[in-house]
Amino acid sequence: MSTTDENIAVADYDEILAGSFRSWYSERRDSWSHDEQSRRLPLMLHDALASPSRVLDVGAGRGLDTEILLRHGHTVTGIDLVDLPDWKDLARSWGTKVEFVCADVAAADLPGAYDAVLDNGSFHHQHPDRYESYLGRLHGLLKPGGLLAICLFLRADDAGPGMLHTAPDGRFSREFTAEEADDTLRTNGFEPIGSAVLPRHRPQWRYLHLICRTTEG
Ligand SMILES: C[S@@+](CC[C@H](N)C(=O)[O-])C[C@H]1O[C@@H](n2cnc3c(N)ncnc32)[C@H](O)[C@@H]1O
Repeated sequence: MSTTDENIAVADYDEILAGSFRSWYSERRDSWSHDEQSRRLPLMLHDALASPSRVLDVGAGRGLDTEILLRHGHTVTGIDLVDLPDWKDLARSWGTKVEFVCADVAAADLPGAYDAVLDNGSFHHQHPDRYESYLGRLHGLLKPGGLLAICLFLRADDAGPGMLHTAPDGRFSREFTAEEADDTLRTNGFEPIGSAVLPRHRPQWRYLHLICRTTEG
């Protein structure tokens, strides 16, 4: 992975992003699906939710977090760019408590007014020109005062600003410093109310797990 050329157009990047994830899943290279630390974010969200809630799992992947939330009594919509075979078993087991949508969250027809949105590893792969509209979209899908649980890549050292990296297939990964993460979220209407820093299966970054409450505007 190297630092990047971010001049690629957003429209071209949409296909690169979807194609990248499609390949990684079909070739079973989705290491994040096996990362136990990642499974702590839905539990952190559950602890912050007062009662059984309607949750949107953005970038649901194989539905691992969706299942954790279902087991804790929540009703979940999982959305992802890639239609994964794992969804069928979950839909069969959980009936009306769960639904899956294969679409870009930016463009999908969703009812909104969710109590919470979980973004466990999707936001930091978006095109930088889309950060604001993407977070605005998540904000708009939440009830007033709703919660966002988000995982970001955190710089492993404090040696400088977070960088944008590009994988050989063109997929971006943005790392943040803690200050950049806080600033990005507050600027887009989210107030962090809880956080945890966790090791990652690949040590070039750590995970920053944040629970945020929507603010006005
Ligand atoms: C790193 S994976 C994490 C998957 C899952 N949350 C987990 O923790 O196992 C990121 C996921 O986000 C999905 N994704 C990325 N951008 C998306 C978008 N704009 N709309 C919907 N899903 C998206 C990808 O297809 C991928 O499955």
